[in-house]
Amino acid sequence: MKAVVIREFGDPEGLEVVDLPVPVPEPGQVRIATEAIGVGGVDAVIRRGTMAGLGFRKGHLLGSEVAGRVTAVGEGVDASWAGRRVWAFTGLSGGYAEQAVAAVEDVLPLPEGLTSADAVTLGGSGVVAHFALERARFAPGESVLVRGAAGSIGIAAVQLAARGGAGAVAVTTSSAERGARLRELGATHGVDRSGEGCGADTPAGFDVVIDVVGGSLLPLFLDKLNPNGRFVALGVVAGPPPTDFGVRLMDAFRRSVSFATLSTDTVPGPDKQAVRASQFTEAARGDLRTVVHEVLPLDQAASAHRAMDAGEVFGRVVLVP
Ligand SMILES: NC(=O)c1ccc[n+]([C@@H]2O[C@H](COP(=O)([O-])OP(=O)(O)OC[C@H]3O[C@@H](n4cnc5c(N)ncnc54)[C@H](OP(=O)(O)O)[C@@H]3O)[C@@H](O)[C@H]2O)c1
Repeated sequence: MKAVVIREFGDPEGLEVVDLPVPVPEPGQVRIATEAIGVGGVDAVIRRGTMAGLGFRKGHLLGSEVAGRVTAVGEGVDASWAGRRVWAFTGLSGGYAEQAVAAVEDVLPLPEGLTSADAVTLGGSGVVAHFALERARFAPGESVLVRGAAGSIGIAAVQLAARGGAGAVAVTTSSAERGARLRELGATHGVDRSGEGCGADTPAGFDVVIDVVGGSLLPLFLDKLNPNGRFVALGVVAGPPPTDFGVRLMDAFRRSVSFATLSTDTVPGPDKQAVRASQFTEAARGDLRTVVHEVLPLDQAASAHRAMDAGEVFGRVVLVP
């Protein structure tokens, strides 16, 4: 089968299209003929080598989420899965391929009316956004700032905060055009990547900051928390925060702000699947919107990564085999 692996960490040119044996599902796994493969920010982070410390090696087969039809089941898996259209989380590898395997507990049937492309746009990111707002103890009426809102996690977080009754939903973006698109999804205010450029009515402080960006500017956004405000860090698309960020956090001591990280790895699987199933149903009804930036053939994975590195992607790029 055709697959895309990391030949060299760094630039997208280090991605290589290769032929690999079709995987055989192990006990407890299913195999899926992929119809859509999500290209996540985490894939770019792994490809760049930012997560090298976690043991990723050359030859790594990228990709975390796929949707398609189950073609085989491993030992101990109910045979009725065969032939079903499903979404699946494949872990931090295995998705950029014509056939992928996943543990059956990470597989979810797709409702009628939800395309495979929509499923891989929402499946992973909607759940991250949901549990980030839960971790932040977000309550109706509170003001929320979503940092890095133009990605699929941010797009979901904006919609969930808006319909959860947020008093204000501000977003950071690199362009006014992106800000306008996010307003259509529920944002009320747009600021630039350094939190500037707000209109007169933009809140000076926020009760909740949801951040997929990290990087050197993270402390600026800690300073934007209201007293008792909660910051939830979800990702590092701009790299790690400065080493003195703990000092900046302690500087905010008298405002009783909180800093938390959240990885959905620590959320119990059944809780994630319940939220995901409900979000899929809402998306199929049109009550939750997915934004597919572009659909590209699998062998153009490097183009997808170039677009991500160039900051051109709004929503999610989807690969099709
Ligand atoms: N916590 C979890 O459980 C979990 C799960 C999955 C993924 N993740 C993490 O989430 C991140 C990916 O999320 P995603 O796919 O939604 O994000 P993404 O699409 O990679 O990026 C979101 C937005 O961030 C902005 N951005 C990019 N580079 C930036 C920079 N240098 N400085 C400031 N803003 C920048 C861009 O918007 P503008 O150009 O408009 O500013 C971009 O559209 C990864 O770090 C991944 O590891 C976390």
